[in-house]
Amino acid sequence: MDFLKILAILLSSTFCLSETNIHTTVSNRTSKILPFLGAGIGVVQFANSVCTGASNLLGTCYKKRQCSGIAGGFPSGTCASKLGVCCVVQLSCSTSSSLNNTHFVNSGFPAPYYGSTSCMHTIKKCNSNICQVRIDFLTLTLAQPNADGVCTSDSINIVGGASTVPPLCGENSGQHIYLNFNGINDINIIISTSSGAAVPRSWNIKIAQIACDCPTFAPTGCLMYFTGATGTIKSFNYGPTANNNLKVNGLPGTREIANLNYGVCIATQPGYCSIRWTQTSGDPYSFTITGNTIGLSVDPGLPTESVSGEACTTDFIVVSNPTGFAADRFCGNALPGLTSGTKPFVLTVITDGNELNDVGNRGFSLSYTQARCTGP
Ligand SMILES: *[C@@H]1O[C@H](CO)[C@@H](O)[C@H](O)[C@H]1NC(C)=O
Ligand SMILES: *[C@@H]1O[C@H](CO)[C@@H](O)[C@H](O)[C@H]1NC(C)=O
Repeated sequence: MDFLKILAILLSSTFCLSETNIHTTVSNRTSKILPFLGAGIGVVQFANSVCTGASNLLGTCYKKRQCSGIAGGFPSGTCASKLGVCCVVQLSCSTSSSLNNTHFVNSGFPAPYYGSTSCMHTIKKCNSNICQVRIDFLTLTLAQPNADGVCTSDSINIVGGASTVPPLCGENSGQHIYLNFNGINDINIIISTSSGAAVPRSWNIKIAQIACDCPTFAPTGCLMYFTGATGTIKSFNYGPTANNNLKVNGLPGTREIANLNYGVCIATQPGYCSIRWTQTSGDPYSFTITGNTIGLSVDPGLPTESVSGEACTTDFIVVSNPTGFAADRFCGNALPGLTSGTKPFVLTVITDGNELNDVGNRGFSLSYTQARCTGP
């Protein structure tokens, strides 16, 4: 096997590269002395590793000439001591890519898209050692669900992976999901919009491929995965205003997406023993899960305040064994602070298909803080 091939294999197990694994300019291919990633005579080479381009977009380090040869690739800043350009890849409808950190954007991005489309992007594993994708909705603005939380006008569907991802819609910029590959199958992202709703849709979705042995690999079963000691987690389509689609009684619809059942996992920090969940402060709607939230005499949150246990049967969150509570299900329009020492740290989110009695619900925005172990 020739040295370059070995080098390519060595590197592709560390970085996710394209077919041309390493950029090499060899003036004389019969040369017996090839430097390893070095500046040797007649050889300029560097690893095609992850780089950060303008506006914090991630790309892959390539020679400028190579970047212009990549579908959707454009140079955004330099890398490898200015030997390369940070090649950011943006692709729109009817495309596929095996490049790590490909961005799937709406047609005309960054301008909004108003039309009706079924726009698909296919994710192909960049090598056989890839097991998972992290899909970051850098921007994902679609039409709101109907008043009952069903994505009837627009939706994003992510199919072909090892588990089912619920169809989502509305405002999901800043959210992410993890999904395992199902064997060698591709994963498809399909965004469907209907021109019926004159909504300025926009999407810029970053797809990171994660190696099976990667430390950032999310545990199987977690649709979302957070690794910080503290953080804020919002339900899909959580937002500052009510759903403007009205219920049959003329009251505001719910922003909560119907028919969800997923886990949000938090990586336990070394030396940390418990996690505390609270409503995000300063936001009176930060836990509005069931019962009418607005349009009543007291707005928000009454007459249904915090509800727990068996009374939560439709939409609720689950935190295992919270200290001081007999229940692990919570719903209603307020959440008491919950501390749990049960590992792994998981927040389970359930919604059913019936949001008829959920006027003006927005879902949740919860803050979590891990606490250090105390004692010996
Ligand atoms: C892909 O890029 C991400 C950063 O977005 C990085 O964490 C990951 O390790 C890369 N995957 C591979 C296989 O190189
Ligand atoms: C490469 O080097 C060999 C031996 O020095 C020489 O015979 C050959 O012509 C060179 N090839 C090129 C393409 O420069």
